[in-house]
Amino acid sequence: MYLTKDEERICKGESGWANQVCMKILVRLGDLFHATKLIPISSAHVSGVSYKTLGDAPIEFLEALANTEEKVKVRATLNPYGLDQEYLGKRLDENLCQKQLNILGLFEKMGFTRSLTCTPYYLKKPVKNAHMAWAESSAVVYANSVLGAWTNREGGPSALAAAIIGKTPDYGMHKAENRQPQILVTLEGQLRNETEFGALGICLGKVLEDKIPMIQGIESASKENLKQLGAALASAGMVNMFHFRNTSTKAKELEKTTIDNSDLKQTIEALSTTSKLKPDLVFIGCPHCSLNELKQIACLIDGKKVKNRIEFWVCTSRYIKEKAKGYVRKIEQSGAHVITDTCAVVTWTERLGIKTIMTNSAKTAHYAPTLNKAETIFAPLKECLKTAVKG
Ligand code: F3S
Repeated sequence: MYLTKDEERICKGESGWANQVCMKILVRLGDLFHATKLIPISSAHVSGVSYKTLGDAPIEFLEALANTEEKVKVRATLNPYGLDQEYLGKRLDENLCQKQLNILGLFEKMGFTRSLTCTPYYLKKPVKNAHMAWAESSAVVYANSVLGAWTNREGGPSALAAAIIGKTPDYGMHKAENRQPQILVTLEGQLRNETEFGALGICLGKVLEDKIPMIQGIESASKENLKQLGAALASAGMVNMFHFRNTSTKAKELEKTTIDNSDLKQTIEALSTTSKLKPDLVFIGCPHCSLNELKQIACLIDGKKVKNRIEFWVCTSRYIKEKAKGYVRKIEQSGAHVITDTCAVVTWTERLGIKTIMTNSAKTAHYAPTLNKAETIFAPLKECLKTAVKG
């Protein structure tokens, strides 16, 4: 990979250890993927912030980096961690909370903003064609496909290194030629709700390998449904982008595949691991809710009461919660909790005694059996609300 004189100096350690080690991570990555150079980025987003998923091993490295006093060079945001201090903080082991807060402190010392959300694009929408280094797979797919920004699916360490250097290797999704549709997906019938969009994502993730799809018939889908599709697509496979508006590419020239109603039905059925109808937790907000989603939940739950023995979490960012005070009040009057900074997947649900999770998110339903050791019930928002209210 070609390095400028400045980059070479950083690589030799002339700008200190933190810059050197971060530059070396980026150069190693660039060489691996045959990038020819580094390009400037407008933002970085780091995942793996939750102590539950991070563990102890990387903490020493984070401490060493933070202690150099080196700061991020671009806007740098953080994925959810394991706590909502107001609600879950009181119910989780103090030692866990301390370790988690220590990790957050290290990132903040490096200049990361306390965003703690997987939907950083609601806080600040990336500019079209902006190059970025984001590590949350659902946000990567949304940024590339819906917002028209350009990012690879970074790992935690490479997004951190990119934040410190302010650059990323120029390969993969940063190249226009790698963003073209490669396979035409035809749907039989209309998708009716967010769970069907999520199921489509899981279904496609498994069959596409890394081919970028052009999906026909979803041009008028809501941004929230596209968010569900992208989050699921990234969980089940390696695709980092989908097309949903007709582009100039001649559809006739593309490889073709069809997803029919029975494919979706089978996927939806497989995302529920139990036929039990009584969850311990109803979880909405994977990826974190938009203002629109909070509004919809508030309207549907207004005047109703959640059954005592059921936990009902609606997860979002602090930023959206603050903007949605009226909706939050209505939701919380029902007995549900609007939770920030975390989600059911990255917090310690097992320690809270949660054995069955009901959700409208295909991504959560896909991960919860392994990451939460929980049974799952996958159903649309309206059914989730009905269950929470009726018990
Ligand atoms: Fe976000 Fe947690 Fe889902 S981090 S994408 S709400 S698994």
